[in-house]
Amino acid sequence: MNVGLSTLILPSSEAAVAEAVRTLGQGGLVAFPTETVYGLGADATNASAVARLYQAKGRPAFNPLISHVADLGAAERIGRFDGEALRLARAFWPGPLTLVLPRTRGCTVAELATAGLDTIAIRLPSHAIARAILQAFGKPVVAPSANISGHVSPTTAAHVQSDLQGRIDLIVDGGPVEVGVESTILGCFDAPMLLRPGGLPREEIEHVLGRRLEQAPADAESDSPQPLASGMLASHYAPRTPVRLNATTIAPGEALLAFDTPLAGSEYAAAVVNLSARGDLNEAAANLFDYLRALDTKRARTIAVMPIPDHGLGEAINDRLRRAAVRRE
Ligand code: TXA
Ligand code: MG
Repeated sequence: MNVGLSTLILPSSEAAVAEAVRTLGQGGLVAFPTETVYGLGADATNASAVARLYQAKGRPAFNPLISHVADLGAAERIGRFDGEALRLARAFWPGPLTLVLPRTRGCTVAELATAGLDTIAIRLPSHAIARAILQAFGKPVVAPSANISGHVSPTTAAHVQSDLQGRIDLIVDGGPVEVGVESTILGCFDAPMLLRPGGLPREEIEHVLGRRLEQAPADAESDSPQPLASGMLASHYAPRTPVRLNATTIAPGEALLAFDTPLAGSEYAAAVVNLSARGDLNEAAANLFDYLRALDTKRARTIAVMPIPDHGLGEAINDRLRRAAVRRE
């Protein structure tokens, strides 16, 4: 691995954006904030930069990456939009939505970034720093979450640093992110299909489309070697401590990830954090990965997680928690 790089950390500023653009242009790796989670960016058109990115993350190379762009025109140069895809882009971009579309013939994104698929995942983030970098760079930037593959996604620059220090060139620190879970991924196939629930609630998309989204096939949820979306690997977003879902009781030695009013008996827990004491799902999403990381350091027997409602951002939160709860070898 390319451990041993010195990783520069810069607070967000015009100078940091310029340094990010310079580094990307040289094939380097730059972590930067988006509204969902911190991304690890590389020049999408530079296959060796993309290879370095897979290596820095320890990511299986069959997992395709999202190409981030500054505007719809740039998106249309790499992906073929049909009417419905265009409607979704106009309604929700910039924002936490990724569209998977057929690649255009002139698509400049490296095959390695799309893992040889004839489709491409495209996202136009709304975060001011991400947009500034994309605009100034002027080419698509692939950016998976800026964590070691399989770890919890980073929502602060400190999370990025703890996973990737010494493996990447630059971290632009823009403070904690706003949404806290990754973008919603929609496959724009014959009928739009929800590939990964995320920062844009399903209900809002269905409202714009005027119909229900197709559900991804159930086997996309397994550890199949060609997942439709890698966030779909059954075990992903994983703390080291075992996770127990829908906890209605708490045992001694367990840590509690609470939502709304903590369980009776939580005063005996090894540690307690509350995703949202007022039962707000948006606040819970923003806190989710930070709190999982925090509880993972408590040497608890188990992280017990209280039930989370499944509507709005709750669908993405529950998806990530289910994956965090899958036991790994
Ligand atoms: O919010 C986000 O989407 C963050 C920020 C940094 O933008 N990025 C992110 O990237 O979550 P990543 O690489 O962790 O997840 C990208 C997902 C993967 O599950 C991948 O399999 C899926 O997008 N994906 C990429 N290209 C695809 C394609 N052509 N077809 C189906 N899924 C695709
Ligand atoms: Mg990820």
